[in-house]
Amino acid sequence: MRVLHRVFLPSILILTTTLAFGQQSPSDIDNKVDALLKQMTLEEKAGQLTQLANKTPESLQAIREGKVGSLLGVLGAENANEAQRAAVEHSRLKIPLILGFDVIHGYRTVFPVPIASTGSFDMPLLEQAERVAAKEATASGVKWVFAPMLDIARDPRWGRIVEGIGEDPYLGSMVAAAKVRGFQGKSMADSDSVVSCAKHYVAYGAAEGGRDYNTVDISEQLLREIYLPPFKGAVDAGIGTFMSSFQDLNGVPGVANHHTLTDILRDEWKFNGFVVSDWGAIHELLAHGFAADDADAAAKALKAGVDMDMVDNAFEHIPELVRSGKLPEIVVDEAVRRVLRVKFEAGLFDHPYADPNREKTDILTPENLQVARKLAQESMVLLQNKGDVLPLAKNKTVAVIGPLADDKASQLGPWAGNGQATDAVSPLEGIVAKIGKEHVLYAKGVDIPSYEKTLGAGVAAPAPPSATGVGGMANLNKPASVDDAVAAAKKADVVVLCLGELAGMTGEASSRASLDFPGDQLKLANAVLATKKPVILVVESGRPLDIRWATFHTQAILQAWFPGVQAGNAITDVLFGDVSPSGRLAISWPRTLGEIPIYYNHRATGRPGSPDRWHTGYLDLPNTPLFPFGYGLTYSKFSYSHLAVKTPTIAPDGTLQVTAEIENTGSREATEVVQVYVHDRVGPTSRPVRELKGFERVTLRPGERKAVDFSVKANDLGSYDPQVHWAVNPGTYDVWVAPDSASGVQGTFEVK
Ligand code: NOJ
Repeated sequence: MRVLHRVFLPSILILTTTLAFGQQSPSDIDNKVDALLKQMTLEEKAGQLTQLANKTPESLQAIREGKVGSLLGVLGAENANEAQRAAVEHSRLKIPLILGFDVIHGYRTVFPVPIASTGSFDMPLLEQAERVAAKEATASGVKWVFAPMLDIARDPRWGRIVEGIGEDPYLGSMVAAAKVRGFQGKSMADSDSVVSCAKHYVAYGAAEGGRDYNTVDISEQLLREIYLPPFKGAVDAGIGTFMSSFQDLNGVPGVANHHTLTDILRDEWKFNGFVVSDWGAIHELLAHGFAADDADAAAKALKAGVDMDMVDNAFEHIPELVRSGKLPEIVVDEAVRRVLRVKFEAGLFDHPYADPNREKTDILTPENLQVARKLAQESMVLLQNKGDVLPLAKNKTVAVIGPLADDKASQLGPWAGNGQATDAVSPLEGIVAKIGKEHVLYAKGVDIPSYEKTLGAGVAAPAPPSATGVGGMANLNKPASVDDAVAAAKKADVVVLCLGELAGMTGEASSRASLDFPGDQLKLANAVLATKKPVILVVESGRPLDIRWATFHTQAILQAWFPGVQAGNAITDVLFGDVSPSGRLAISWPRTLGEIPIYYNHRATGRPGSPDRWHTGYLDLPNTPLFPFGYGLTYSKFSYSHLAVKTPTIAPDGTLQVTAEIENTGSREATEVVQVYVHDRVGPTSRPVRELKGFERVTLRPGERKAVDFSVKANDLGSYDPQVHWAVNPGTYDVWVAPDSASGVQGTFEVK
């Protein structure tokens, strides 16, 4: 076992008081930070605020010279320790680095993409998954993760909708808190905890036209009611850092936005950690037309409230900016204080090095994979199950068809940490493992042509297809052929058709102007459907695709998203009924592109949607999504009844208590995600037709019934008036206890 170094800190009082779990008290830390700050030159201060990418001879030299406070993208304990040694043994002040990486949905044990796992509505499991991610990341020398990604999005064209938390601010803030708890654990200083980073602050997901990095112009009310709450949830959960967003918000780029970074984040929310810019965003102020040169950009970012520069090297201008009087040193000092404070809180001064032994014991363990499998099971959404065709019997012959059926890389999704495609279980492998290859026929059918532009960094390298054997697998190494697919379908009892997008068609810089199935996938689907065999469509994608055809022509639709390393096992567990599906949609599912944006919590209009022509809507489509937010089937049926508002009148500082009876009226045990929504009938602004205010996963046996209780603080029912004052409005409210955002049992209550 390697002897861990203890950093020698010159002229710092070593205070003895510590808090539980090895935490130091804030005043201890502030004293240490101040003592250190006093010794720093302007160049060293600029260095603390500078993050570079990767461990290179140049970056190591810069670290030794005190010009670097953080590196990103250094993986592996030995690599991390080599970089760290340059800082703590060879730089003048021996200040440790904080080493960051994108651990968006798992490190090596890759979990389902966030848009999927959000739909599990299972906060303890999300927390557990991030605990696993933190354990694996720290074993590999990563102490800071650029997650959770908390961008609300209402536009599936935007490629990064896959990385986020869907469309709901309440669900988003719950997910934020669960993830922060998971990443940071009991203390960020624990050896298996990381500092987490809320991103991309803020409103990045509102990009016009769904084009990544595009401009955003929204009202202050919309910002506060929809886009900010998940970030507030992260602050309340004690998150250590934030990342500012690329895009401009009402004309002011996220990285230079004093209103969001200082007025709201620091002054209103009292956030005490530090803010890092996104990759290259400070320099991009020039392209925005917001700064004249890098020095100007650096000053604007710092004055707005950014503390650390990600890879721009723009903060090398700090000394000259201070000396010329263009930047008050107090601004720089405050930024340095914030960075150092987080480094102390993360225990980096005491334990800067990673233990290389943990790399062998803590990564991709069976326990970790089990969490990934469970979260994947709970994240996929059963959208259709005509005639209860699912679950499938295990003694039938199944034709597994489609370009994603054995694409291991795409199972991982677009931002798979340190995930390896070879670790992933493909749907084909999962099905073969479950029912034996003698029951399985396979044909790829068609290839999905990749868009050149979207093959970006972060997409796991392709792996060879699985070597599941011969027999029904005879097509494994053959070029894709629709004829082979048809032949396989004809020989089978049922077809599992795996279509969708390649992982690289989603994520950063991967917006699409269409929700189609790329390439010739529909040609394949038509040919397979013509065999008249029952077809189970398994969709893997990072956004809702246009599946209207499938609702007519297939028996069942399972939206699997990108389920992660255990994809094939989890899909198979659901298809064959070893678990009942329980995932729900974290975003409204549009019928087609022209409906975008469509989201459940839209404001009421003066002419609400109706078949009558003179109402909000389209001539050629209903005024509803194909599937609403919160929707998802199980293998049972649930009835909702006996809604009772226990508090028919509440004070603005009171609590609403409502209950409803949920009964499993089907024939299988299943888990229902019970949701509670409210609607303020008369407000100072027109209020959303519904707003989610609570949820609970409830598992019931056939015939079992349960009264499910919800408590909602009246203060959480408030809204902003046009002058942006928060108030809980008196008057009548509707409340629903519901299986999704478009149905449920309804009651009313009064706020007085
Ligand atoms: C750019 C992305 O927007 C951000 O999410 C990520 O954390 C950084 N690059 C670092 O990789």
